[in-house]
Amino acid sequence: MKTVKDYIRTIPNFPHDGIMFRDVTTLFADPRGFRMAIDQLLHPYADQQIDKVIGLEARGFILGGAIAHQLTVGFVPIRKKGKLPGQTISQDYKLEYGEAVMEIHDDALKAGERVLVVDDLLATGGTAEAGIKLIEKLGAEIVGCAFVIDLPDLGGRALLEKLGINVHALCAFDG
Ligand code: PRP
Ligand code: ADE
Repeated sequence: MKTVKDYIRTIPNFPHDGIMFRDVTTLFADPRGFRMAIDQLLHPYADQQIDKVIGLEARGFILGGAIAHQLTVGFVPIRKKGKLPGQTISQDYKLEYGEAVMEIHDDALKAGERVLVVDDLLATGGTAEAGIKLIEKLGAEIVGCAFVIDLPDLGGRALLEKLGINVHALCAFDG
Protein backbone atom coordinates (compact mmCIF):
# COMPACT_ATOMS: atom_id res chain seq x y z
CA MET A 1 0.00 0.00 0.00
CA LYS A 2 1.22 3.52 -0.78
CA THR A 3 2.21 5.76 2.10
CA VAL A 4 1.74 9.54 2.35
CA LYS A 5 5.41 9.98 1.47
CA ASP A 6 4.91 8.09 -1.81
CA TYR A 7 2.51 10.80 -3.05
CA ILE A 8 4.99 13.68 -2.52
CA ARG A 9 6.92 14.81 -5.59
CA THR A 10 10.48 16.17 -5.38
CA ILE A 11 11.46 18.97 -7.77
CA PRO A 12 15.21 19.66 -7.78
CA ASN A 13 16.56 23.24 -7.90
CA PHE A 14 13.29 25.03 -6.97
CA PRO A 15 13.08 27.86 -6.01
CA HIS A 16 16.91 28.04 -5.94
CA ASP A 17 19.77 25.90 -7.16
CA GLY A 18 20.53 23.14 -4.70
CA ILE A 19 17.06 23.03 -3.05
CA MET A 20 15.15 19.75 -3.32
CA PHE A 21 11.58 21.11 -3.24
CA ARG A 22 9.12 18.70 -1.60
CA ASP A 23 5.91 19.31 -3.55
CA VAL A 24 2.66 18.36 -1.81
CA THR A 25 0.39 19.31 -4.74
CA THR A 26 0.63 15.69 -5.96
CA LEU A 27 -0.47 14.48 -2.51
CA PHE A 28 -3.35 16.98 -2.36
CA ALA A 29 -4.51 16.06 -5.88
CA ASP A 30 -4.88 12.36 -5.10
CA PRO A 31 -8.14 11.42 -3.31
CA ARG A 32 -6.60 8.50 -1.38
CA GLY A 33 -3.42 10.40 -0.58
CA PHE A 34 -5.21 13.54 0.62
CA ARG A 35 -7.64 11.59 2.83
CA MET A 36 -4.76 9.52 4.26
CA ALA A 37 -2.82 12.68 5.10
CA ILE A 38 -5.81 14.36 6.80
CA ASP A 39 -6.67 11.21 8.80
CA GLN A 40 -3.07 10.71 9.93
CA LEU A 41 -2.53 14.38 10.82
CA LEU A 42 -5.56 14.55 13.09
CA HIS A 43 -5.33 11.02 14.57
CA PRO A 44 -3.24 11.89 17.70
CA TYR A 45 -5.54 14.84 18.44
CA ALA A 46 -8.98 13.29 17.82
CA ASP A 47 -9.65 12.87 21.58
CA GLN A 48 -7.76 15.98 22.70
CA GLN A 49 -10.72 18.41 22.90
CA ILE A 50 -9.34 20.72 20.22
CA ASP A 51 -11.28 24.01 20.05
CA LYS A 52 -9.69 25.50 16.89
CA VAL A 53 -7.39 24.46 14.08
CA ILE A 54 -4.82 27.08 13.03
CA GLY A 55 -3.43 26.96 9.47
CA LEU A 56 -0.14 28.60 8.48
CA GLU A 57 -0.18 30.32 5.08
CA ALA A 58 -0.45 28.95 2.49
CA ARG A 59 -0.52 25.16 2.34
CA GLY A 60 -1.51 24.94 5.99
CA PHE A 61 -4.88 26.42 4.93
CA ILE A 62 -5.66 23.45 2.69
CA LEU A 63 -4.79 20.90 5.36
CA GLY A 64 -6.15 22.88 8.29
CA GLY A 65 -9.53 23.50 6.67
CA ALA A 66 -10.05 19.78 6.05
CA ILE A 67 -8.93 18.87 9.58
CA ALA A 68 -11.19 21.49 11.17
CA HIS A 69 -14.12 20.12 9.17
CA GLN A 70 -13.32 16.57 10.27
CA LEU A 71 -13.04 17.61 13.95
CA THR A 72 -16.14 19.86 13.66
CA VAL A 73 -14.24 22.86 15.02
CA GLY A 74 -13.46 26.31 13.67
CA PHE A 75 -10.48 27.26 11.50
CA VAL A 76 -8.22 30.30 12.06
CA PRO A 77 -5.63 31.52 9.50
CA ILE A 78 -2.19 32.91 10.36
CA ARG A 79 -1.26 35.01 7.34
CA LYS A 80 1.62 36.96 5.90
CA LYS A 81 1.64 40.69 6.66
CA GLY A 82 -1.09 42.85 5.17
CA LYS A 83 -3.59 40.13 4.19
CA LEU A 84 -5.96 40.06 7.18
CA PRO A 85 -8.61 42.83 7.14
CA GLY A 86 -9.28 43.27 10.88
CA GLN A 87 -7.14 44.31 13.84
CA THR A 88 -4.07 42.09 13.98
CA ILE A 89 -1.04 41.30 16.09
CA SER A 90 2.26 40.65 14.28
CA GLN A 91 5.38 38.56 14.71
CA ASP A 92 8.69 38.83 12.79
CA TYR A 93 10.44 35.67 11.71
CA LYS A 94 13.57 34.72 9.79
CA LEU A 95 13.50 33.33 6.26
CA GLU A 96 16.37 31.69 4.42
CA TYR A 97 17.16 35.19 3.10
CA GLY A 98 15.90 38.15 5.11
CA GLU A 99 12.85 38.47 7.34
CA ALA A 100 9.07 38.26 7.09
CA VAL A 101 6.07 39.00 9.29
CA MET A 102 3.10 36.78 10.22
CA GLU A 103 -0.23 38.07 11.56
CA ILE A 104 -3.37 36.83 13.30
CA HIS A 105 -6.62 38.66 14.03
CA ASP A 106 -6.42 39.81 17.64
CA ASP A 107 -9.91 38.43 18.37
CA ALA A 108 -9.42 35.08 16.58
CA LEU A 109 -8.75 33.04 19.73
CA LYS A 110 -9.95 33.19 23.32
CA ALA A 111 -7.59 32.72 26.27
CA GLY A 112 -7.49 29.05 27.24
CA GLU A 113 -8.72 27.68 23.90
CA ARG A 114 -6.98 24.46 22.89
CA VAL A 115 -5.53 24.72 19.39
CA LEU A 116 -3.86 22.48 16.83
CA VAL A 117 -1.38 24.18 14.44
CA VAL A 118 -1.09 22.72 10.93
CA ASP A 119 1.31 23.24 8.02
CA ASP A 120 2.63 21.16 5.14
CA LEU A 121 6.32 21.26 6.02
CA LEU A 122 8.67 21.92 8.94
CA ALA A 123 12.13 23.14 7.89
CA THR A 124 13.96 25.63 10.17
CA GLY A 125 10.84 26.04 12.29
CA GLY A 126 10.86 29.84 11.89
CA THR A 127 7.34 29.98 10.45
CA ALA A 128 5.88 27.67 13.08
CA GLU A 129 7.70 29.50 15.90
CA ALA A 130 6.21 32.82 14.72
CA GLY A 131 2.76 31.20 14.71
CA ILE A 132 3.31 29.78 18.18
CA LYS A 133 4.30 33.21 19.54
CA LEU A 134 1.15 34.78 18.08
CA ILE A 135 -1.10 32.08 19.53
CA GLU A 136 0.58 32.36 22.93
CA LYS A 137 0.18 36.17 22.88
CA LEU A 138 -3.59 35.58 22.62
CA GLY A 139 -3.44 33.19 25.59
CA ALA A 140 -4.50 30.02 23.76
CA GLU A 141 -2.99 26.63 24.55
CA ILE A 142 -1.08 24.78 21.80
CA VAL A 143 -1.95 21.09 21.99
CA GLY A 144 0.34 20.24 19.07
CA CYS A 145 1.83 21.18 15.73
CA ALA A 146 1.14 18.75 12.87
CA PHE A 147 3.07 18.64 9.59
CA VAL A 148 3.03 16.35 6.58
CA ILE A 149 6.81 16.68 6.11
CA ASP A 150 9.71 17.14 8.52
CA LEU A 151 13.16 18.12 7.24
CA PRO A 152 15.03 17.14 10.43
CA ASP A 153 18.42 18.32 9.15
CA LEU A 154 17.10 21.91 9.25
CA GLY A 155 16.39 21.75 12.98
CA GLY A 156 12.75 22.81 13.18
CA ARG A 157 11.56 19.82 15.19
CA ALA A 158 14.39 20.28 17.72
CA LEU A 159 13.55 24.00 18.03
CA LEU A 160 9.84 23.40 18.64
CA GLU A 161 10.46 20.54 21.05
CA LYS A 162 12.84 22.79 23.01
CA LEU A 163 9.91 25.19 23.34
CA GLY A 164 7.88 22.33 24.84
CA ILE A 165 5.67 21.89 21.76
CA ASN A 166 4.31 18.49 20.73
CA VAL A 167 5.38 17.87 17.10
CA HIS A 168 3.67 15.33 14.83
CA ALA A 169 5.01 14.72 11.30
CA LEU A 170 3.88 12.08 8.82
CA CYS A 171 7.22 11.62 7.05
CA ALA A 172 10.76 12.98 6.84
CA PHE A 173 13.13 13.84 3.99
CA ASP A 174 16.82 14.70 3.99
CA GLY A 175 17.22 18.49 3.93
C1 PRP B 1 7.03 26.93 3.49
C2 PRP B 1 6.24 25.84 4.18
C3 PRP B 1 6.23 26.29 5.61
C4 PRP B 1 7.59 26.98 5.74
C5 PRP B 1 8.56 26.08 6.45
O1 PRP B 1 6.21 28.05 3.30
O2 PRP B 1 4.93 25.72 3.64
O3 PRP B 1 5.18 27.21 5.88
O4 PRP B 1 8.09 27.22 4.41
O5 PRP B 1 9.83 26.68 6.56
P1 PRP B 1 10.50 27.03 7.96
O6 PRP B 1 10.23 25.86 8.89
O7 PRP B 1 11.96 27.16 7.62
O8 PRP B 1 9.90 28.29 8.47
P2 PRP B 1 6.67 29.34 2.49
O9 PRP B 1 7.41 30.28 3.41
O10 PRP B 1 7.35 28.87 1.26
O11 PRP B 1 5.31 30.08 2.16
P3 PRP B 1 4.02 29.67 1.26
O12 PRP B 1 3.41 28.42 1.89
O13 PRP B 1 3.13 30.86 1.41
O14 PRP B 1 4.53 29.42 -0.13
N1 ADE C 1 10.24 25.05 2.53
C1 ADE C 1 11.49 25.05 3.00
N2 ADE C 1 12.24 24.08 2.47
C2 ADE C 1 11.41 23.41 1.60
C3 ADE C 1 11.58 22.28 0.74
N3 ADE C 1 12.74 21.63 0.64
N4 ADE C 1 10.53 21.87 0.00
C4 ADE C 1 9.34 22.53 0.11
N5 ADE C 1 9.11 23.59 0.89
C5 ADE C 1 10.15 24.03 1.63
